[in-house]
Amino acid sequence: MASKRGFFRGSKPVGPRHARGSRQWRGVLHEYADRLDVSKATPVVTLGEGGTPLIEAHSLSEMTGLRVFVKFEGMNPTGSFKDRGMTMAVTKAKERGAQVVICASTGNTSASAAAYAAYGGLTSAVLVPDGKISMGKLSQAIAHNAHVLQVKGNFDDCLDLARDLADNYPIHLVNSVNNDRIEGQKTAAFEVVEVLGQAPDYHFLPVGNAGNYTAYHRGYSEEARRGATNRIPRMFGFQASGSAPFVRGERVKNPDTIATAIRIGNPASWDLALAAQADSNGYFGEIDDAGILAAHRLLSQTVGVFVEPSSAISVAGLLERSEAGVLDKGATVVLTVTGHGLKDPAWALKNADGSDAQPTKVPIDSAHIAQVLGLGSSS
Ligand code: F0G
Repeated sequence: MASKRGFFRGSKPVGPRHARGSRQWRGVLHEYADRLDVSKATPVVTLGEGGTPLIEAHSLSEMTGLRVFVKFEGMNPTGSFKDRGMTMAVTKAKERGAQVVICASTGNTSASAAAYAAYGGLTSAVLVPDGKISMGKLSQAIAHNAHVLQVKGNFDDCLDLARDLADNYPIHLVNSVNNDRIEGQKTAAFEVVEVLGQAPDYHFLPVGNAGNYTAYHRGYSEEARRGATNRIPRMFGFQASGSAPFVRGERVKNPDTIATAIRIGNPASWDLALAAQADSNGYFGEIDDAGILAAHRLLSQTVGVFVEPSSAISVAGLLERSEAGVLDKGATVVLTVTGHGLKDPAWALKNADGSDAQPTKVPIDSAHIAQVLGLGSSS
């Protein structure tokens, strides 16, 4: 029942997290209990995920002649959108009596699985590719006491192993091949519709396994069916050039990109994503690593939103499609930025030319500092 949730279209200028009065946002399973497979008896495992800000990106709107909003999913409890799906997956695992959960991950899924398992009193095991996971993400899984297993292989090898183990041993798979994950993640589309009053014309997001691409499309489609929006957006998914199976039209054997979160050659949601693309008149594009890092800098410097490199591909994709002249002028666009910049901060410490960005060293001397800042002499 909309009036019972924490934000109200057409009332005060509020975002999902800013409930009327002092009520705390309760996480997506409680907030959207009417649209998810949960009952009063379901043992909900929540860390308060969802209700993330939808930020109007004036600089990007000016650059493109569109109305651009950024859905900042780094504001979730473990710093990525994975928490929306993980609250559902771990809750349903618990409801079905599972004691151990497992996932393959480029880092964010494992951080999220480890945190929700810890809160829910389950054991977690995570399979991560050797050396290709950021330190921030690895530290999260270790902090939450997951069994962290580093596999001599890439993400696709890890997912094959996780599926095999879940098929043959008493261990519950929480990758997005588990539909519970997609179900939880679709709530992000509910929030967008609720804040904008309808779906945007275009939705841009990074694509790895394409679970999130599938989830947003499902969420928007459900909103359209219940009459909350009279349209669904064209879904624009972007992959890194060295790791772009949807663009190539086939699996990529040795995916490579600095955007480690989306370094995936064999997307798990291949068929679902192609169906979502067809249904929404969508698009899959690619951006090279230099383009990803330039967008990362632009987003940090002009929108004030710090993301991990993979997330910046939404911005790079928007600029690329805008320059190609294929987007309708004045259209409303939502960009999902999927993970927080603190997950993988090393990229912020590089200048555009690849050199190290260093703070300016100054003495304990205000006149000197004023000079460095170009403030002239004191008055
Ligand atoms: N952005 C970030 C920050 C991610 O971590 C991921 C996926 C994606 C985008 C792509 O989402 O797979 O639904 O298309 N990360 C997974 C992981 C693979 O293990 O954390 P997708």
